[in-house]
Amino acid sequence: MAVRRLHPDQPSSFAFTPENVAWIQETVAKYPPGKQASAVIPVLWRAQEQHGGWLPEPAIRLVAELLDMAYIRVYEVATFYTMFQLAPVGSVAHIQVCGTTPCMLRGSLDLIEACKRRINPDPHHLSADGKFSWEEVECLGSCANAPMVQIWKDTYEDLTPELLERVIDTFAAGGTPKPGSQTGRTASCPAGAATSLKDPALYDGSSIGAWKRRFADLEAAASQLAGTAPADKPKG
Ligand code: FES
Repeated sequence: MAVRRLHPDQPSSFAFTPENVAWIQETVAKYPPGKQASAVIPVLWRAQEQHGGWLPEPAIRLVAELLDMAYIRVYEVATFYTMFQLAPVGSVAHIQVCGTTPCMLRGSLDLIEACKRRINPDPHHLSADGKFSWEEVECLGSCANAPMVQIWKDTYEDLTPELLERVIDTFAAGGTPKPGSQTGRTASCPAGAATSLKDPALYDGSSIGAWKRRFADLEAAASQLAGTAPADKPKG
């Protein structure tokens, strides 16, 4: 994980658009009086969206003022979560490559190499045309479909370097690639045929109560061997 610092080149000011001001008022009103700080993440996110995908320092300051929070508290949030970008990002796509163990074991290092080749050798630097940037991040919660990347709010999963380049090509051509598995599997269903839970009896209702019958049979057999009747059991 890279050290997360504010970019040295900052705009001199930041102001929300009137539409976003109205949205912020609506959002803050969802929380009890005095708890407006709870809106800090959605408000910072809105600032980032308005500012081309990254969060300038004056926006952090403004959010602190709007939510009546100490600047350091908002700064902490902005610099902690990798969902907040602290430097300019590609205008078309900022690619967050998961480098945590499951993704790493499934080939995320190759995805990083593809990003270095296609975008820039260094993370948090723009491609020559300014359209793309990339970084390595920690687990993004799609481990069952490793390796994966997140671009804006979407995840692209089951990637190989070739499939990632196809995603990049689609963005570069002005399209929006279909999020999710890039090999066509549904969610995190097994790749290929199912390998477990295949017994049809699991789904036709015939197994309901089977365990109870099995214990009753065992108890009856034990009683028979001992020459006694099974003890009455409370119903249920
Ligand atoms: S380890 Fe990559 S999504 Fe969890």
